[in-house]
Amino acid sequence: MIEDLWYKNSIIYSLDLDTFMDGNGDGVGDLPGLINRLDYLHSLGVDVLWLAPFQPSPNRDNGYDITDYYGVDRRYGSSGDFVEFMNHARKRGMRIILDLVVNHTSDQHPWFKQACRDPQSEYRDWYLWSKKRPSGWNKGMVFPGVQKAVWTRHPKAKAYYHHRFYEFQPDLNMDNPHVRAEIRRIMGYWLQLGVDGFRVDAVPFILEPSQEPKGELNFEYLAEMRQFLQWRAGHAALLGEANVAPKDTRRYFGDGRDGLNMMFNFWVNQHLFYALASGDTKPLEDALEATRQIPDATQWAMFLRNHDELDIDRLPKQRRDKVFKRFGPEPGMQLYHRGIRRRLASMLGDRRHLELANSMLFGLPGSPVMRYGDEIGMGEDLSLKERDAVRTPMQWSSERNGGFSTARKTVHPVISEGPYGYQSINVDAQRRDPGSLLNWMIKMIRVRKECPEIGWGEWALLHTGVPGVLAMCYSWRGNQVVVLHNFNRQPQQVRLVMEGEGCERLVSLLDTDDSKANRKGHHDIALTAFGYKWFRVGGLNYALRREPAAPDESH
Ligand code: GLC
Repeated sequence: MIEDLWYKNSIIYSLDLDTFMDGNGDGVGDLPGLINRLDYLHSLGVDVLWLAPFQPSPNRDNGYDITDYYGVDRRYGSSGDFVEFMNHARKRGMRIILDLVVNHTSDQHPWFKQACRDPQSEYRDWYLWSKKRPSGWNKGMVFPGVQKAVWTRHPKAKAYYHHRFYEFQPDLNMDNPHVRAEIRRIMGYWLQLGVDGFRVDAVPFILEPSQEPKGELNFEYLAEMRQFLQWRAGHAALLGEANVAPKDTRRYFGDGRDGLNMMFNFWVNQHLFYALASGDTKPLEDALEATRQIPDATQWAMFLRNHDELDIDRLPKQRRDKVFKRFGPEPGMQLYHRGIRRRLASMLGDRRHLELANSMLFGLPGSPVMRYGDEIGMGEDLSLKERDAVRTPMQWSSERNGGFSTARKTVHPVISEGPYGYQSINVDAQRRDPGSLLNWMIKMIRVRKECPEIGWGEWALLHTGVPGVLAMCYSWRGNQVVVLHNFNRQPQQVRLVMEGEGCERLVSLLDTDDSKANRKGHHDIALTAFGYKWFRVGGLNYALRREPAAPDESH
């Protein structure tokens, strides 16, 4: 049955171990700390945890520079702690996905060191070399402004090595079958420890041909990874990071069996931020349409913010400028000429706007991915470098270091000043306040879980005739859900014309404001400024009268 594909309809939560919860008081978050907070995540309604890299690493890029793919960095605990953690997660029915960072290793990885030291070493060909400086040495940097080149000379190796990202992250040579075999071993290792899949880092770069000129991407490498994944663990999934245009996404998903199971929908994300900045929802509607067609067995991962900058590079210049102006007006808030290094709550400011954005997250076609701290509305620390601004420790309470750690000094400073300081923004305070963002989020997640139509169903845009109001209807097995979002600063009155069984009654899922159609069958619905409404068509019990699966739905 297609319902076996858990990733089609899951609430995903992402966190970095080092900033979530410190269990041993050394100032760095760790596995015992996370284990301690699993009940919090479980009661929030999280189905899946995505853990950022925690393998041994010099940690020059938040752990995305690995020196041992088969271990746990000592700062976070031991392999034993990892297995304990998996057991605790499983007891609560939570699934775990890990970052798979195999486009590159750390330059401190023994493979790279050996490759530099000895040209005859078997590891030499695990990386990409050039005797002379290649012509495109200073083109195609992922971190422009911070990174100077994509080919850097290594004095010991007496050659240039390729690195799409920082110079301490040499790219692996995927054309070498031993490298691909090693990647499979890495996947196999963690699958054997019980993980449910991987968030695959930097997918387009993994598939890049090793030889110049770089032509077509090697999608067969992705197919190889997917096939191996499914041989080892039938239920496991790959969630890919590939910020590509809609026309290219088809290749990444493949036919649903030979590509990624899930991809982050960067396209919708950027157009959603444009809609939030401008009140104009038309480009967002187009973005949704452009990413509509994906194979049945695949799914979009929808998100608002992640651990990186808010990347708006794919918006046309004028729209990008609008987003910058509204959400990142100061140069210090911007990054790599394409993004904003801020948290959601501080960008949006207004609680109503924040609720609108989060209601969208849960109401978009896909599985929502939340970022730790966004459920309580954490802010950023612009005094930290680059993307670290959005990686400050989780704010648990009003105690020292926001309850994150008892140490004198923490991995990054806890935000302790201004409106987003831990004294006012923290889990403990919000837990006790019925009107808090946290309690609103818990309710929102519950409602989202009661609407499987969104993960499984078909969707249509409904015509309201009011610019800046996005209305969507989801249908699955004879049930329907309607979600309305008003991106305008002003209240709006919308008219919905709906046809079909039960359509005369829309039962509100978030408040008591039901709607009854007038004699002509129209629903006239009032939305407040930045208001949103979720309705179940026909009445609450409709959901219980779900039709059985159609034969073509069983896979
Ligand atoms: C991805 C990660 C980012 C990291 C980069 C290099 O883009 O999201 O945080 O810096 O890959 O691994």
